[in-house]
Amino acid sequence: QQTFRIGLLGRGTVGGAFADLLEQRAGHVAAVTGLRPRITGVLRRSEGDFDQILADSDLVVELIGGLDPARDYVQRAMAAGKHVVTANKQLLAEHGEELWATAREHGVQLRFEAAVGGVVPVVRVLQESLAGAHVERLHGIVNGTTNFILTRMADTGASYADALAEAQRLGYAEADPTDDVTGKDAAAKMAILARLAFDTPVSLAQVRYEGIEHLTADDLEYARELGLGLKLIGTAERVDGGLSVRVHPAFLYGAHPLASVNGPFNAVTIESEAITEITLSGPGAGGPQTASAVLGDVVSAMIPPASTHEPSERLELVDDVVSAFYLHV
Ligand code: HSE
Repeated sequence: QQTFRIGLLGRGTVGGAFADLLEQRAGHVAAVTGLRPRITGVLRRSEGDFDQILADSDLVVELIGGLDPARDYVQRAMAAGKHVVTANKQLLAEHGEELWATAREHGVQLRFEAAVGGVVPVVRVLQESLAGAHVERLHGIVNGTTNFILTRMADTGASYADALAEAQRLGYAEADPTDDVTGKDAAAKMAILARLAFDTPVSLAQVRYEGIEHLTADDLEYARELGLGLKLIGTAERVDGGLSVRVHPAFLYGAHPLASVNGPFNAVTIESEAITEITLSGPGAGGPQTASAVLGDVVSAMIPPASTHEPSERLELVDDVVSAFYLHV
């Protein structure tokens, strides 16, 4: 079986989880795609030669984050005819147009499901499933760290500082959590979602954002007394023939689909007249979850879209229908 060569840039929380996951799932991916994926080069902060890694790869996975040198690496990889998978939201929110132009020019794929919503497949849904829908509005909880902090403060009365320290320990927060708590990380993600939903260039600089640093346990208690949720919400919507994209804390009535999204979970509701409303939700941060989204993008880049392949497994079907059941929440 032919090898599909992957150059991995960055081996931090997500990069390490991706390497582990690929090792576990390589057999399955080979069965699905007909190619055996293998990491043929790793670039870490202190070691590795980018040009060599590029020469030895069919696809580059960029997980170093930040703008520089990630921007240059992604550009050079695509210009060399390699597909790129990235989880880099800041890069796409600030230089997306130039990168998508390079991908088009060189006929390569630039995939970025893991950049928004962790493992929640909102990028694919907007790019593919809803390509025919005229989206009116998006609301999203797109930062796991702040949602985790607010949930902890509301449920256990934990202080902001303790809840943040726990989010950092669990690997949800950015290396510098300032981007999380100020709303900047969520703003970058909303810029990307707005670009996809409304097919309009949107950069981070055009997104107004406000974070959760000023919220207190009292604010959360007040919301609870009124039967409301208090969340950091991103919104992108058509307004007067234009587009508004913003991030700020918001009160939600208890039955709102985003009100019950807790912990490091992310969720996005998408509204359009044609489809009414859908909500996607799931783990929005964390190494293994984000790694799964990255691997999904790698597999997608390896096979033509929507291909039907031979089943890779033959699981026995179990007949255990019950008449009523509970879903665990
Ligand atoms: N720091 C980010 C978050 C990681 O908390 O959502 C996922 O992008």
